[in-house]
Amino acid sequence: MPSQSSSSSSANGLISPIRPVRITRGKSESVMVNEGCFVNLWNHLGGSVTLTETRRFYDIKANAYDEEMTELNYKGPKVIFEKFRELRISRGSRILDVGCGTGLLGVELKAAGFCQIHGIDMSSEMLRINRKKGSYLSLGLTMVEPDTDLTSLRDFDVVCLLSSLRPGHISPACLENLSTCLTSGGYLIWARSSDIPSGHFTDSFDEDTWSEVKGKLSTLGILCLEESFIELFVRDKPGMIGVLRKM
Ligand SMILES: C[S@@+](CC[C@H](N)C(=O)[O-])C[C@H]1O[C@@H](n2cnc3c(N)ncnc32)[C@H](O)[C@@H]1O
Repeated sequence: MPSQSSSSSSANGLISPIRPVRITRGKSESVMVNEGCFVNLWNHLGGSVTLTETRRFYDIKANAYDEEMTELNYKGPKVIFEKFRELRISRGSRILDVGCGTGLLGVELKAAGFCQIHGIDMSSEMLRINRKKGSYLSLGLTMVEPDTDLTSLRDFDVVCLLSSLRPGHISPACLENLSTCLTSGGYLIWARSSDIPSGHFTDSFDEDTWSEVKGKLSTLGILCLEESFIELFVRDKPGMIGVLRKM
C-alpha cells in the first residue's frame, strides 16, 4: 500500500491526487478506502460508520485535504459566503463553524472581512492544519453529539455546518443542542453535497426523522427558512443548503 502522503497511480498511469487510506475496525478487519471520498469508507465498512472511524479518516486525510478539495473544485466556502451576503450578515458577527476541519470556510470569511470566527472539530489533525492559517479566534477539539456539553459556546450570530451535517458526521439530532449556541435572531446554516448516495440517509437522516427534527425545532422557536439546491458544490455536482433561524 502506498504511504499516506504519496499519490496513487490510476489505470491510465496518471498520478491521482486521491490517496489510499487504511481504516481498521476491531482487530481483524482492515479496509482500503480512497481518501478523497468518504462515501468509499462508508461502503467499505458495510453501510455504517462510527464517529471514531470518521475521526480516524479525517486524522489521516488532514494533510492532503486542502489539495484534494481544490482538485475536486469544492465550492462549499463560497456557497456559505454567498448566503452570508444574501442574509446581510454583518462583518462583526460572531460565527461558530461546526466541523470546521482545516478551516477553508474561515479563510474565505476572514478574507471577506469577518473577524469573529470560532471553530470546533473532533479531528485534532484537521485542527492542526487549520491553526496554521490563523483565521479563527478559537478552535476547540469537540465531538458533537446530541448530548455534548456546549455551554461554553454561547451567543453566536451564525452557526455553520459546512459538509459536516451528513451521515457518519453530525446528525440532525444534534441541531437542538447546537441551537443553544445561537443568540436570538441568529442563523444556523448548513450545506452539503447532494452527491451522497440516498441509501446513506438512514436512521437519524431519513426523511421522516428530518421532518420530526424540524418540527421539534419549530416548537422551540427555531424555524426552517430555506432548504434548496445549489447548482455547483463539489466535483462539479450540485449540493444542498438549509437555513434555520432562532426567533
Ligand atoms: C467533510 S469535512 C468538512 C470540513 C470543513 N467544514 C470544510 O468544508 O472543508 C467534515 C469535518 O467534520 C468533522 N466532524 C465530523 N463529524 C463530527 C462530529 N460529530 N463532531 C465534530 N466534528 C465532526 C470532521 O472531523 C471533518 O473535519
